[in-house]
Amino acid sequence: MAQFTLPKNSKIYQGKTFSATVDAKNKKTFRVYRWEPENNDNPRMDSYEIDLDDCGPMVLDALIYIKNEIDSTLTFRRSCREGICGSCAMNIGGINTLACTKVISDIRGDINIYPLPHMSVVKDLVPDMTHFYAQYAAIKPWMQTQTPPPPDRERLQSKEDRAKIDGLYECILCACCSTSCPSYWWNSDRYLGPAILLQAYRWIIDSRDENTGERLDELEDPFRLYRCHTIMNCTNTCPKGLNPAKAIAEIKKLLVSRTI
Ligand code: SF4
Ligand code: SF4
Ligand code: FES
Repeated sequence: MAQFTLPKNSKIYQGKTFSATVDAKNKKTFRVYRWEPENNDNPRMDSYEIDLDDCGPMVLDALIYIKNEIDSTLTFRRSCREGICGSCAMNIGGINTLACTKVISDIRGDINIYPLPHMSVVKDLVPDMTHFYAQYAAIKPWMQTQTPPPPDRERLQSKEDRAKIDGLYECILCACCSTSCPSYWWNSDRYLGPAILLQAYRWIIDSRDENTGERLDELEDPFRLYRCHTIMNCTNTCPKGLNPAKAIAEIKKLLVSRTI
């Protein structure tokens, strides 16, 4: 029988509240999603009120402050703290973005922080990226060639050909775009999603790669590629300012042009 209500264990409860000290002058509340796999409790939202004068300007600074000074059990990923590694991707104030490049003062009122949507949660703000990375591996994200390399130098390309991968190579695989895409929410078992398709296009368009035909064959599939319905959430949310929807459209154009 069809079930129209969410399962009981999906309901998020109000969790603990941590108040700032009485002498705090620049207070801000961060409401953070918490879920621990070790027990059977439902997820909860813990509230941390902190004095912004005590921490740096970015949301990641606040999370690090909370972990170091208030609640060491809070779990999240981060590494580079400058928008390069992609590991601090999460949903902040309703938008998928990078905690390390999101300025606290850009968000009015309390700041709600959740893990990336529609992903299994490992703990707190840490999503399970296993399937996403398997999809990335499936598009063979490396240069494939049949011809031998020149004996005395690396494979070269013209400045014009090199420029074709601008707007693609900068992708840091943070998954903000894929986890904002409704088609990916419902069909991520078979639809590759915008991040992986942008990466696929990055190799298709690289003049040095010699497996373009096979790469296009692999994508010519009603689910892998054609679940994109040009909703554009992906492009709107990309914290690196990239345009996965355009990359997907370019792949579709290449598939059409080779059938004419
Ligand atoms: S296209 Fe943008 S949002 Fe998507 S994975 Fe790459 S950097 Fe992240
Ligand atoms: S344009 Fe395509 S990939 Fe981007 S959000 Fe829409 S359906 Fe998803
Ligand atoms: S910590 Fe590396 S992108 Fe945010």
